[in-house]
Order: sequence, then C-alpha cells, then structure tokens
Amino acid sequence: MSHLSPPHRPGQGTSIDIHLTADYAARALREDARNGLTAEPKWLAPKWFYDARGSELFEEITRLPEYYPTRAEREILDARSGEIAELTGAHTLVELGSGSSEKTRLLLDGLRDHGTLTTFVPLDVSESALREAAAAINTDYPSLTVHGVVGDFTEHLDKLPGEAPRVVAFLGGTIGNLLPDERADFYKSIRDVLEPGEWLLLGTDLVKDPATLVAAYDDSAGVTAEFNRNVLRVLNRQLGADFDVDSFSHRAIWDPENEWIEMHLRADRAMKVLIPEIGLEVDFAEGEELSTEVSAKFHRHGVEAELDKAGFTNGAWWTDSEERFALSLWQAV
Ligand code: AVJ
Repeated sequence: MSHLSPPHRPGQGTSIDIHLTADYAARALREDARNGLTAEPKWLAPKWFYDARGSELFEEITRLPEYYPTRAEREILDARSGEIAELTGAHTLVELGSGSSEKTRLLLDGLRDHGTLTTFVPLDVSESALREAAAAINTDYPSLTVHGVVGDFTEHLDKLPGEAPRVVAFLGGTIGNLLPDERADFYKSIRDVLEPGEWLLLGTDLVKDPATLVAAYDDSAGVTAEFNRNVLRVLNRQLGADFDVDSFSHRAIWDPENEWIEMHLRADRAMKVLIPEIGLEVDFAEGEELSTEVSAKFHRHGVEAELDKAGFTNGAWWTDSEERFALSLWQAV
C-alpha cells in the first residue's frame, strides 16, 4: 500500500446538501404515528425519540454506569483508528446518523494522522445538528473538506459524495434499531452505492447475559425511562396530542428468540388519547403496551452471514476488552 504524506493544503470549507423537503420529518411523523398507533400491537419508530430534549437524554444515557455500549465502542475506536486508516487508505469518511461527533473525532484523528483523508461527509436527518457538527469539525480539522448531507440513511444513500476509497461508518449499534428485513435492505443499499474495494465500518452491540442488557436499557437513575416517555412528548408537541405522559411506565424486555431488547411504554390505566393533527383518537386498555424501540444484539457469525449475503467481505473484527461490543470492517466485493 502506498502512503501519501499528510496533506498540508487547506480543505474546501463546509458545504451542506439538502435532500429532504422542509416538511419531510413532519409528514413522516404523521404517517408513522397513524400507522403505528392504529396497529395491533401499537408501535412507534425509535427515530422519533430524538428531538432536542431526546438527543440530550440520549447523551445522558451514554454517561450512565449501566449503559456500556458507548464506552466500549470508544475503547475500540481509540485503539484501532490507526489500523482502520492503514487497512482502508480512506480518502473520504462518510458517517451515517452522525449526531454528536465525539467518537467521530477518534476516527478522524486516526485517518488524518495517516495522511490520506481529504473529506468528511456527515449525513443526518437533522439539519441543525448537521450544521453544528459540520462547523465544529471544520474548525478543528481545517485541512478537511466537510460536505454535510441532510438525509435519511434508509433512503438517501445514493447521494454520497467524496473521493474513493470511502469508508461509510455506521456506529453506536444503531443498526440494531432496524428489523432483520430492514437491515438486509440497508446493507444492500450501502453495497449499491459503494465501488468494489470501498468500505463499511459497523458498530454492533453483542449478545451477553440478559441482566447486563436489561440494566443498560432500564437504568436505576431512570434516564432511559424519561428518554422512552419523551416520544410521547414529541407527539404532544408536534401533533397536538394529549398523552398523559406520566401515566405510562417504562419497560425494557429481553427477547431471547429474536435476541433483541424491546422498549415499551405501558399504559398504567385505561386512556383515550386525541391526536388532532392527524384526526385520530386512540384507546389504550389498562396495561396495554406500546412498542417504541427494538435494539438487536449480535453474534459474530450472524453479522458475517448478513454482510456476506449483501456483497461484502470481512476486513477486521475488533471487540472491547470485555467483548461486549464489536467494531467490524467490511469491504465491498
Ligand atoms: C442510539 C440506537 C444505539 O439502541 O442502544 C439507548 C438507543 N435506547 N437506550 C441503543 C437507546 C435506549 C441506542 N442507539
């Protein structure tokens, strides 16, 4: 592998491409709320947790003693970003669902020090979060061109800019929020936008003892419970709904068949909820549960089989010292 010397030329600053119409999120929320709350059993998609308050609560979750995935992934990135740079020779780092970019910086440091990286492409549905992250990265990595893309990673992958070879990073274990069929489609759509030889860097939480898993999603300080209930506040604010948020309790359940954690909100009493913006009236029976998130956990062989099927070969598999979380590198065939 030939190694270029670190670029000393300045980057091209930041630019933002917008692939979502202004009301995309508003329309998607209405549609999801209607579909999910008229279904049996009722459900809501986890992406609706993340308004400003929800994003703050998630940041708080990442600092909880019980919530190990963020620390475990950080440990791996810290140890392996140099190897990732050497294996991939990346010119472009694309980060899907970039959110706050603290862990991204570990990767950027490794790639930049290696000297091949020219461009960072964060993709996020939130334009404000993206603008903030892009500006901060631009300040701290002045030699990089930052090309933000406002988009939904399940729909706008065809629009990824940047010079090859690119590394598409999907970190944090967020892949676990997709159901198996959605996951297969997602891997295929990433494979479709990559040229042979380009890369996917994937963070996956691993199957472990149920007590540890459940504690990570049902912390003693009650932050995850607040995060879970926040989705009802989002519906109250954005759709004019009248959920009595405090009458729902948080539940985190390990499903050993599917090997995923499911978060539910349980109605503590019978309730009728009005959602004027979508003209919907929803009845909850006492004890009825609304599913708000699936967070799948993985084994190495399962991840390998799925990525192999999508047209990738394994480049590396790394875990933290306690083997709780894996970071793996996949090359498009
Ligand atoms: C951000 C999707 C990786 O599934 O662990 C944290 C979200 N939910 N606590 C996860 C979450 C409850 C988190 N991801």
